[in-house]
Amino acid sequence: MRWRFMLFLALSLLLLAALPLAQGAAAASIFDTHSPSGASIATLFWIVFGIAAVIFVGVEVALIAFTIRYRQRGNETGEPRQIFGNRRLELLWTGIPALTLAIVFGLMVVTMRGVGAGPVNDPNALTIEVIGHQWWWEYRYPDQKLVTANELHLPVGQPVHLRLRSDDVIHDFWVPALGRKMDLIPGQTNDLWVQADSPAVYTGSCAEYCGLQHAGMRLRVVADTPDDFAAWVAGQQRGEPPLSGDAAHGRTLFFQSQANCVSCHAIDGTTARGTVGPNLTHVGGRAMLAANIITNTPDNMVRWLLNPQVVKPGNRMPNLRLSDDDARDLAAYLESLK
Ligand code: CUA
Repeated sequence: MRWRFMLFLALSLLLLAALPLAQGAAAASIFDTHSPSGASIATLFWIVFGIAAVIFVGVEVALIAFTIRYRQRGNETGEPRQIFGNRRLELLWTGIPALTLAIVFGLMVVTMRGVGAGPVNDPNALTIEVIGHQWWWEYRYPDQKLVTANELHLPVGQPVHLRLRSDDVIHDFWVPALGRKMDLIPGQTNDLWVQADSPAVYTGSCAEYCGLQHAGMRLRVVADTPDDFAAWVAGQQRGEPPLSGDAAHGRTLFFQSQANCVSCHAIDGTTARGTVGPNLTHVGGRAMLAANIITNTPDNMVRWLLNPQVVKPGNRMPNLRLSDDDARDLAAYLESLK
């Protein structure tokens, strides 16, 4: 019975360990790095892991060997020979761990200095302000004069200076592929330098418990080629597209006082200047909704508008009690904002 239980336990542990692998490439992993600082953190991990593995195997082998070699045999009785102190051995087993820890500490300090320092005076660096909100991300590009939410675009191969702050409680920006994590703290600005090596979508999540929808505060970073990034910026700087039909009616609803969209949301170039919720100037062009928890489809937009609390319980957007038709028209308007 006992060995069966042990086998069951071992298999369960193996299965648990394999789970993150089964989730596939979409899962953010500290081993799948695409940035200089991510790579140096992963390298540090493997070095420390290697040192720890050598120690673990050495200690276990010695433990097992000594247990077998010096076990009590059947015909032996009484206490074994007692030994009191051995200066050379004691120096050795104090010195080796101290030296090992000193080496790990040194490597860690070097890595921390490397990933923490940004090219502060690099004229090529792009500055983006990241503001944490319960429970979404605001991104401001001061030099490009644009504001967006939940989908962070940056060009590959260029150092990006993220200036992190929070509007309410402490959040934490963590995209494992791009390196280390950093808190967003109310009343304080933290600096984080990131650089993406290859064009792709990198995911992450808020890494500091920040309330009910902490888990619904996902990160999505789109690393573009320089050309794609320039095209994205130009697209974000464009004004409202011409509208007709349902979308035009949706626009009327958006600016009506009953729906009250404008008291929380902004659409640049219009009278909508709310800052409580995400800036919606180009919401139709984003791949995801509700801080990256559902895909941005017209149906999902309608579902969200009809009752945001069903889609993301606890979020700050109230149920506007829209009719099905109004929700559909509003969704048509928002989806047209590409
Ligand atoms: Cu924001 Cu957790």
